[in-house]
Amino acid sequence: MSDLIIIGAGPGGYKTALHAAQHGLQVTIFEQQHVGGTCLNVGCIPTKTYVHSASFDEAVERQPQVVEQLRSGVETLLSHPNITLVRERASFVDARTVETPSGQRYTADNIIIATGSSTKYIPVEGVNDPCVVDSTGLLALKERPRRLCIIGAGVIGMEFASVFNRFGSEVTVVEFLKECLPAIDSDIAKRLRKVMEKQGIKFNMQCGVKRIADGTVFFTNKKGQEESVEADVVLMATGRKPNTEGLNLEALGITLERNGAIPVNEHFEMKKIRDEENKKDDAPASSNSLNFTFPNSPHIYAIGDVNGRQMLAHAAEFQGHHVVNHILGLEDHIRFDVMPAAIFTTPEAASVGPCEGQLKEAGTPFECHKAFYRANGKALSMNETEGMVKLCCEPGEGRLLSCHAYGAHAADLVQEATAYITLGATLRQLRETVHIHPTLSEILIEVN
Ligand code: FAD
Ligand code: NAI
Repeated sequence: MSDLIIIGAGPGGYKTALHAAQHGLQVTIFEQQHVGGTCLNVGCIPTKTYVHSASFDEAVERQPQVVEQLRSGVETLLSHPNITLVRERASFVDARTVETPSGQRYTADNIIIATGSSTKYIPVEGVNDPCVVDSTGLLALKERPRRLCIIGAGVIGMEFASVFNRFGSEVTVVEFLKECLPAIDSDIAKRLRKVMEKQGIKFNMQCGVKRIADGTVFFTNKKGQEESVEADVVLMATGRKPNTEGLNLEALGITLERNGAIPVNEHFEMKKIRDEENKKDDAPASSNSLNFTFPNSPHIYAIGDVNGRQMLAHAAEFQGHHVVNHILGLEDHIRFDVMPAAIFTTPEAASVGPCEGQLKEAGTPFECHKAFYRANGKALSMNETEGMVKLCCEPGEGRLLSCHAYGAHAADLVQEATAYITLGATLRQLRETVHIHPTLSEILIEVN
């Protein structure tokens, strides 16, 4: 019996295991594949290795080395005396017990589900065509595709479009919506798309894919006419779905969200137990063969991609951190409403807080301030004049609400703004903070 079972050793699972172990909890963590999860093995790390490689061949060579090095680092972290790593798939037997295919059963007072997500394929004819791959399949290619068609101009689509264009592939993107990157300020997203168009990427916006046949992607354009793109490889980048299959969640009587995510409350405790199970819970323990204790002592949590909140590695990590604090009765002040994110295109884009459109829609009073890279001395000296920062704050240089940006090192600028927003600082306070000259971060105090 351990204090804590964690299912999945991605950034959510393994970092949480370590935090719990360092606080004296006995942890058993299950991993069916490689430690490090999507992020380390087929997500953040391999893609950023591609971004920072000069050619496709260099990227293919470096990727396994970088992944292997980091993976062995995670293995070392998980060799902590309070952690037991079980290299098997876990599924629920009841609310405090999981079992593995080898038939072993494990129990714990608390269980965290951190099973991540996988590619969501659109239901069109030809989706199983051998030329259609997801991000994992694209990263496994040993030969650079001459023509790459990307379905979806979200985060994955834009990052791969940028990197494969730089490697010399002919890249065409087909996107359903009017603008790319739905989560980013539309002004910033449009400017970034225009820059990428100038770099040679072809975008077909407001186009719905109808079918794929022998490497040809057929879609309907915004005028309702059929068009097609021929490609050697087609990347499916149309979103990701939470991994819940095979967990036997039925044994817990929960109803998944419409997007397949595990429903959670503000402490990431699993919620929405079926009514019958709630009734059972009120009944004497002897009448409840599965020994449910919900909803009085919720001890099953879901963190990271599987709860569908924010599909980001750092979101998974901080959610897990909060769960351990919650289990231990430790207070923390992590602001899950202030979640920065970056898109590693060339140039980068990044954001924290609601975009201008969302603030308008919510009726929040705000004012918007902008600054351009071309007016910044460091950007000029770096020959990185393409870019813009947009800050939204309460009227009268008040509390900062959001920062959206594109341009060189946009993620670093947004990270600085994240600190101000988290601490409740105002635009006036940001402007009164001395910034080193010459730096890109001066763009934040140059907004007008
Ligand atoms: P995962 O990392 O998916 O880990 C879940 C683990 O659980 C997996 O190892 C899986 O094998 C295991 N598992 C599943 N079911 C079971 C079971 N029943 N028993 C045992 N083990 C199980 N995010 C960023 O913040 N920055 C980026 O730059 C970035 N780039 C990305 C690029 C790509 C191409 C992709 C696909 C994603 C990227 N992401 C990025 C998103 C990031 O990878 C995820 O948000 C993050 O990995 C989620 O962490 P997690 O711990 O919730 O799940
Ligand atoms: P996404 O949700 O960001 O984008 C999917 C895009 O596909 C949307 O623009 C959508 O309109 C489009 N689409 C859907 N159906 C379509 C159709 N039939 N035809 C044409 N277009 C269609 O999902 P994506 O890019 O797959 O990424 C998944 C998640 O992974 C993201 O939500 C992100 O959180 C995470 N991620 C994060 C990264 C980072 O932080 N840098 C990098 C890569 C992924």
